[in-house]
Amino acid sequence: MCGIVGYIGHREAYPIILKGLKRLEYRGYDSAGIALFDGTDLKLSKTKGKVANLETKLESEITTHGSVGIGHTRWATHGVPNDVNSHPHYSNSGDLVIIHNGIIENYESLKKELIKRGYVFKSDTDTEVLVNLIEDVKKNEQIKLGKAVQIALNQVVGAYAIAVFDRNKPNEIVVARLGSPLAIGIGDDEFFIASDASPFIEYTKNAIYLEDEEMAIVRRDKGVKIRKIHDDSLVDPYVQELQLNLEQIEKGGYDHFMLKEIYEQPSAILDTFRGRLLTNEAIIKMAGVEDNMKKFLNADRIIIVACGTSWHAGLVAEYIFEDLARIPVEVEYASEFRYRNPIITEKDVVIAISQSGETADTLAAIKLAKSKGAFVFGVCNVVGSSIAREAHAGAYTHAGPEIGVASTKAFTTQITVLTLIALRLSRAKGTISSSDYRHHLIELELIPDKVKKALESDDYVKTIAEIYKDVHNFLYLGRGYNFPVALEGALKLKEISYIHAEGYPAAEMKHGPIALIDENMPIVVIATKKGHYEKVVSNIQEIKSRKGKIIGIVTEGDTQVKELADHVIEVPETIESLSPLLTTIPLQLLSYHIALMLGKNVDQPRNLAKAVTVE
Ligand code: AGP
Ligand code: GLU
Repeated sequence: MCGIVGYIGHREAYPIILKGLKRLEYRGYDSAGIALFDGTDLKLSKTKGKVANLETKLESEITTHGSVGIGHTRWATHGVPNDVNSHPHYSNSGDLVIIHNGIIENYESLKKELIKRGYVFKSDTDTEVLVNLIEDVKKNEQIKLGKAVQIALNQVVGAYAIAVFDRNKPNEIVVARLGSPLAIGIGDDEFFIASDASPFIEYTKNAIYLEDEEMAIVRRDKGVKIRKIHDDSLVDPYVQELQLNLEQIEKGGYDHFMLKEIYEQPSAILDTFRGRLLTNEAIIKMAGVEDNMKKFLNADRIIIVACGTSWHAGLVAEYIFEDLARIPVEVEYASEFRYRNPIITEKDVVIAISQSGETADTLAAIKLAKSKGAFVFGVCNVVGSSIAREAHAGAYTHAGPEIGVASTKAFTTQITVLTLIALRLSRAKGTISSSDYRHHLIELELIPDKVKKALESDDYVKTIAEIYKDVHNFLYLGRGYNFPVALEGALKLKEISYIHAEGYPAAEMKHGPIALIDENMPIVVIATKKGHYEKVVSNIQEIKSRKGKIIGIVTEGDTQVKELADHVIEVPETIESLSPLLTTIPLQLLSYHIALMLGKNVDQPRNLAKAVTVE
């Protein structure tokens, strides 16, 4: 959500910042802007819309020369997306310029105070309040920018990643973070600032990730100085070596990141297994689980907190953990959990699932759980992300960067990690027989090839997309392990094609949604052989009697559903608990093709952000 880029060094800043903003487009945004210092003065250009619009506008408005600058993609929270509300924002004197990701919650009271002191505001944003607060503190106290930022931030309630520049001190950029990510790339006589490492990966592999409540003064001549915002204590910079490479964040010949990521699933799942699934030895090795085995085994229950697609992966995990490891599980929307005074004890294990590792609600939920003494285990994709660092222990999904806003490979790799954990725990608890355990491992190992096979339905799925692309509603039904897949299929369609879709447990249909069914309603039914097959076939009969159009997701060789359904998409056979890893594939493809045929922006759907770093 929103992107921040900055550069200070010996190169031209503009191309680096512009390319950086393009790399961050996947995070979701509605406007963009850049401020550059051309050696004498600050130049700024910003606009509603895409970075490509900014490029055209900016190059006609300002000179692009200069070796210091900051750029921003905005995801509006306060004030509509328009040119004026776009970032960067000047302070009243025009000396300071700021970019900000997050929300200043007490901006109204701060704004009132500043207005009393004569400040005027051009935009409706909370960000413009912050830059003027910094200016006010700086003027009143006659202090340097870094100190002024620190004092101002101590008056602020909310979440932020900011970069501030003072045209009178062109050799430094001040940055700070609380709740929103911020990385500093360390080059040779040059520094990069960004929301994640993708904007600077081709220039340096060395990066510092700021922690919450830290600020840094980045000076070309003196390097990076980090302090705690609240108590002013100095922090030793921890420079990490990044594993990411440029190829991983480019489209690699696919038209869209989403399609690339759908097709990456066989290899992504293999990467998730790597070093963990040792089928020949019948061993699952996961350091985060081994080191904390007692916590897991003594747990009264597991509480899973997550949002969106990650929440759906959590629902699948609920079935696996209860089924195999016999541990009671509750799956919670992080946003609800954190505000409903939940009962959490020291005997609870909380598993937080998050692709980005930056989702504000999930982060807040685990902080709450930690404060109550629960053990928190993170399942994240982005290495070094806030949730990964905040959790007591965890396991990465190792899916590689997921850029498409609609989550695909993150979902299947999350399920894979959670399955590995459930299997490891069921072995340790003795709730699974050794033959059943071995059978699961063997089946799991076959999954990447079966996903490949499931992807072969692509062309056929396209023909189905062509038939239904113009409808306004879709229903998705599934039972047991495939109920969460129905929810996920519906979410994928909603997100990128803007067609209304609902997911339901198949048997729940007769308690309400059945009223929606007529000859215009396509219903995707997941009816694989091992999952309550006969019951789902009955549900299909009920739909058929009401003339609904049935798209069945079935096991290879199925004949029964084939006779009833209008279309069937086959997936390879596997055990029930692993079937979501296969049934979800055609649903991802269906949403992709429909969105594409409708001319939608598949990778950056409207209103959505890749990492939702605000509440
Ligand atoms: C998935 O397609 C969505 N864009 C969204 O629901 C996402 O899964 C959710 O915001 C959670 O994100 P996270 O996994 O990064 O925490
Ligand atoms: N709250 C700020 C605004 O609305 C920043 C939003 C963002 O994170 O992009 O402008």
